[in-house]
Amino acid sequence: MNTLNPTRGHLLETFGLDLELSHGVDATLIDSSGRRYLDFLSQYGALPFGHNPTEIWNALNRQQSLLTPAMVQPLRATEAEKLADTLARITPHDLGVVTLANTGAEAVEASIKLARARSGRDIILSTKNGFHGKTMGALSATGKSLYQKDFGGPASGFEYIPFGDLKALESKLAECGDDIAAFILSLIHI
Ligand SMILES: Cc1ncc(COP(=O)(O)O)c(C=O)c1O
Repeated sequence: MNTLNPTRGHLLETFGLDLELSHGVDATLIDSSGRRYLDFLSQYGALPFGHNPTEIWNALNRQQSLLTPAMVQPLRATEAEKLADTLARITPHDLGVVTLANTGAEAVEASIKLARARSGRDIILSTKNGFHGKTMGALSATGKSLYQKDFGGPASGFEYIPFGDLKALESKLAECGDDIAAFILSLIHI
């Protein structure tokens, strides 16, 4: 039985990629028969420190041993405050406010809201066949009907131009540039 995304499970089976992985260390994955694989994918960039990075596990274990509370609304989250301050310090320019998110799609949602609230404009412009995630705002910015059509997407206010088409961008800016809150671009296209 495969209740976790059976379509994907079927695809993996078809292509002989339905390995059972038992370990992941740095850039190496090891399957249940002990065979080792060099992982060049890095979860599309979501694992910049590799699999099971020692520094991160050490930090998590340290926090656990200190019994530091993590979910403390509406009180102060002092560890999260430290992280936000560090991110602001090491990020170029004068970043002054940090929003923490769990996923890429959440970061895209936050940026859509921020751009609209700050600019007072509505249009989010993106390119066809990019990918920005699967929440409603993010899939609306994802200019591909596969991710939108069954879910009532795209939401209103999203417009698209072809990737790499400077003339289309210029003509969109001439047509409605004053209504565009943000242009979101993913550099890898599918
Ligand atoms: C460019 C880009 N933006 C957003 C996302 C969505 O990230 P997540 O799957 O963490 O929600 C992805 C995921 O592949 C991505 O490649």
